Amino acid sequence: MTSNSDSATSADQPAPTIGPPDVIGTPLSPTATKVMVLGAGELGKEVVIAFQRLGVEVVAVDRYANAPGQQVAHHAEVIDMTDPEALLAVIDKHRPAYVVPEIEAIATEALVDVAERGVAEVIPTASAVVATMNREGIRRLADEELGLPTSPYLFADTLEELAEAAGQIGFPCVVKPVMSSSGKGQSVLRGPDDVASAWETANTGGRVQGNRVIVEGFIEFDYEITLLAVRAIDPRTGSLTSHFCAPIGHRQINGDYVESWQPHEMSPDAHASATSIAARIATALGDGKLAGRGVFGVELFVKGTTSTSPRSVRGRTTPVSSPWRPSGCRSSRCTPARFSACPSTSRWRRPAPRRSSTDNSTRPPSDSRTSPRHSRCPRPTSACSASRRASTAGAWVWSPRPPTTFPPPANAPCARRRW
Ligand SMILES: Nc1ncnc2c1ncn2[C@@H]1O[C@H](COP(=O)(O)OP(=O)(O)O)[C@@H](O)[C@H]1O
Ligand SMILES: [Mg+2]
Repeated sequence: MTSNSDSATSADQPAPTIGPPDVIGTPLSPTATKVMVLGAGELGKEVVIAFQRLGVEVVAVDRYANAPGQQVAHHAEVIDMTDPEALLAVIDKHRPAYVVPEIEAIATEALVDVAERGVAEVIPTASAVVATMNREGIRRLADEELGLPTSPYLFADTLEELAEAAGQIGFPCVVKPVMSSSGKGQSVLRGPDDVASAWETANTGGRVQGNRVIVEGFIEFDYEITLLAVRAIDPRTGSLTSHFCAPIGHRQINGDYVESWQPHEMSPDAHASATSIAARIATALGDGKLAGRGVFGVELFVKGTTSTSPRSVRGRTTPVSSPWRPSGCRSSRCTPARFSACPSTSRWRRPAPRRSSTDNSTRPPSDSRTSPRHSRCPRPTSACSASRRASTAGAWVWSPRPPTTFPPPANAPCARRRW
């Protein structure tokens, strides 16, 4: 992992006055430091294991019994996490010091309430969880507040609005429910005839009730990565600093995750742009008492040597580092934040260069691919809000000096796993 404390976007900040305990007590005793992990699937299980190694008492919550994370936690709770009352009740029952949302389908308003009342700290912050679990929140942050390059986009609440928005964005375009993940409810529209089925798919594929969708211009990217930005106190300076793991390349089919590897090679310029974007997003999301300590997974499309387009951000603790095998970590005190940066002894090798056009069926036929749509970026309408900029190439300018440790060293962690 490299740190970027020199950049303007991740400059050292005063250490928060309230933070993790100096001493982690004994689990299952009155001195215990308790953490509640919301989402106990395979990824949540890795987070639970990391907490267990630290000696933290863990409550694993999911909507079904005997979820993987619950099998290795001290306590298991089965609730509907989209129900705010059920969520508040389980937090009141266990009174954890920290709540770590690991999945998206959570009643985020309950987490805001918990944080505001000082009942528990939400990691990385309640507002980050709210922003990142709704595509609209993170898109507006990236575009309207931070001015980062994004695909052109519009929002729509009805079939009619979707038809109008898709027409303005142009074809091909991508439609997604604002509250969804793992490609669920997502469609690529190649023409007006696809609008009705995309609306249907979005309405049945979202993870919570509600019809709002985002329409995005289709991005023709060279590759996509996730950059993990770790916000933590630098023990040397006592200041809050953003650190960055080597880029994780990944491959999606039909919008869903298939495999990933680390590091994904990038040109120094592309790497610097990606790092700057990740730093700016993580810093912007880092408020609250802990100032956003935690791991932010920033997903980016990369085209050429310098352009990077932020797509979605997950502010959860280690959402994308978990695919790395625990056996690849040499540290006996492997925290969620450190996990993905640990040197890997995995036998997996990096994948050979790929890919055929069949690899990602969300891609349109090459003859229908379009160039960046700067000039066709739609303007705001009463029904929708339009991106002010739309770029997949060349628009990004990054001013802070690039971290000196990029690109990642040859012995950087390298692992791969198929799902
Ligand atoms: N605008 C787009 N242009 C091209 N491909 C896209 C676009 N948006 C998403 N995709 C493809 O679909 C995948 C899933 O989209 P993403 O926005 O990450 O949704 P999710 O939150 O469900 O993972 C991406 O990894 C990418 O391969
Ligand atoms: Mg994604």
